[in-house]
Amino acid sequence: MKGVIFLEFLNLVEAKFGLDMADGIIESSTLASNAAYTAVGTYPFSEMVSLISALSERTGVSIPDLLQVYGEHLLGRFAIKYPVHFEGVTSTFQLLEKLDNTIHVEVMKLYPEAELPRFYPNRLAEHVLEMTYRSDKPLSTLAYGLIAGCVGHFNEHIDIAMDDRSDEAQTHVIFTLTRMAA
Ligand code: HEM
Repeated sequence: MKGVIFLEFLNLVEAKFGLDMADGIIESSTLASNAAYTAVGTYPFSEMVSLISALSERTGVSIPDLLQVYGEHLLGRFAIKYPVHFEGVTSTFQLLEKLDNTIHVEVMKLYPEAELPRFYPNRLAEHVLEMTYRSDKPLSTLAYGLIAGCVGHFNEHIDIAMDDRSDEAQTHVIFTLTRMAA
């Protein structure tokens, strides 16, 4: 997993829960990296699992809820760090329809070791977009948060339904996004 994902996570923990909490979860996790993350570095996904589990234990907030909040935050950070992907894009559907075939393709060029999920968009109607998420990581609630972050970013009203097709493993999920009348 890329360092940028770890750094944004630790920044959010510090902002929401304080520096002591950020230091505390680092200390209680066994991290080969010693948490010396750099944005372009690549680190084991197990380190993210350790950090988020420690945060869940200390705060009493479930891991899915933490991942969702993190996803929403991350979308805002992506909009600031990678504005080129948002240029000329005015809606959630537009952004999500170019996620798999453009945005994550460019991410892969930038970070060849990135391990990205697949997202298959399917426009069922003018106001309904289905997105199939497939990953080897159980991060569908992070995806939910990122999608919710898009909706907030474009200031839209969109209902997001999540249907887990992987026996709750969170690796194969169908999202159905329905745009509501304003
Ligand atoms: C400008 C926009 C975006 C950029 C620059 C971006 C970039 C990235 C990067 C760098 C990673 C980490 C890969 C790794 O650690 O190896 C990642 C992972 C991920 N991205 Fe994106 N992303 C963007 C938008 C989105 C959006 C809108 C979604 C919404 C569904 C999304 C869903 C995910 C998920 C769920 C992961 C976690 C990996 C997994 O589930 O297997 N991304 N993205």
